[in-house]
Amino acid sequence: MKKSYPLSGFSSVALHAGHSQDPMFAHITPIYASSTFVYDNAEQGMRRFSGEEEGYIYSRWGNPNFTEVEKKISALETLGITDATGNPLEVKALLHSSGMAALSTLMFGNLKTGDKVLTHFSLYGGLEELISKILPPLGIEPIIVDLRDLNKAEAAIKENTGIKLMYLETPANPTLQCIDLDALTKLAKNHNLLTAVDNTFATPYLQQPFRYAVDYVFHSTTKFLNGHGTAIGGILIGKDIDKMNGSITKTYRLLGGNSNPFDAFLLNQGIKTLELRMERHCFNAQQVAHFLETHKAVAKVNYNGLTSHNDYAIAKKQMKHAGAMMSFELKNGKQGGIDFMNKLNLCIRTVSLGTAETILSHPASMTHYCVPKEEREKYGITDGLIRMSVGLENIQDILNDLEQALN
Ligand SMILES: Cc1ncc(COP(=O)(O)O)c(C=O)c1O
Repeated sequence: MKKSYPLSGFSSVALHAGHSQDPMFAHITPIYASSTFVYDNAEQGMRRFSGEEEGYIYSRWGNPNFTEVEKKISALETLGITDATGNPLEVKALLHSSGMAALSTLMFGNLKTGDKVLTHFSLYGGLEELISKILPPLGIEPIIVDLRDLNKAEAAIKENTGIKLMYLETPANPTLQCIDLDALTKLAKNHNLLTAVDNTFATPYLQQPFRYAVDYVFHSTTKFLNGHGTAIGGILIGKDIDKMNGSITKTYRLLGGNSNPFDAFLLNQGIKTLELRMERHCFNAQQVAHFLETHKAVAKVNYNGLTSHNDYAIAKKQMKHAGAMMSFELKNGKQGGIDFMNKLNLCIRTVSLGTAETILSHPASMTHYCVPKEEREKYGITDGLIRMSVGLENIQDILNDLEQALN
């Protein structure tokens, strides 16, 4: 059965894009648990290795389960976007074993000694450590400024010759700060910088960075794309097809951060329901944010869908809804945070985010327990800060659990 009609709705694309008919007629693509792929004869092997003939060789280089996901996420990230000639935008994606592996390919595939990376101070901690601990000994320097201030961003570019890449995470951990994609990517292009955007919190359903002058989109697929907390993964999607097929693929293959067929299979199944899940996630999150905002035990709520959030207007401009992530500060500081976490019944105490279940973490007693208070407060991680990924449960059950844990 050949499917050749255009798909215009997000869920249709999420369900069908990337799928090809299995040779054994299985409805769902089976798990291709095979490290290598065979050739009919030596000549075919030669054609595969030379690139003359398309086909799989070795699963560190590529695998049918990876391809299905790579094509599906590419189709979602570019849905409705055209290139300069008016044709549908073409991109190329590479599926990795984790978000950090995909970020390593991005950094090592684009940067060399003497280059600098410009980024915002509120960032996922693992990336912050990668650019401040692993890259500097290799002669690659991070320039970290408040990119919500265009003047500061421009001044940093002018003061620091050698900036090669602007890296943006929006909305960002843990205060949900948003960066103006349109303004920042125009600035980056005026100065000939490459731009990469971490779209993990938003997903392509809420935000499509390729609508702006963005070169790379990145996801930790561990989160909303998988959606069920069953596999770690990461994807790097690039607009420069020749570069993606050339030096970036070379870096990917040699660093060895490839995914595996089982995780790719789980991810593929998860993405199919992304639209439905994000609608419910966002609806629930908006209710939770309103509930917390008026609760006497809560000092502050950071949620892009509240008019009280500093970046409400930017989020509204570039996102379909405000997302499922929020953080809030309890009035009773660190002990208040610990007591609150201990009282949760329904909601899950854990790190990570984007699962079907509601999950909460208390960075001061969990992920950032070993980080000095002054250090973590620079990133908005106060003693009583709770990070919440609002799940798909019945909203009243979530509110009831929060209410009993707060009182
Ligand atoms: C926004 C963001 N980017 C990147 C990562 C890294 O991804 P992974 O844990 O899949 O390596 C994470 C992980 O929490 C994240 O939240």
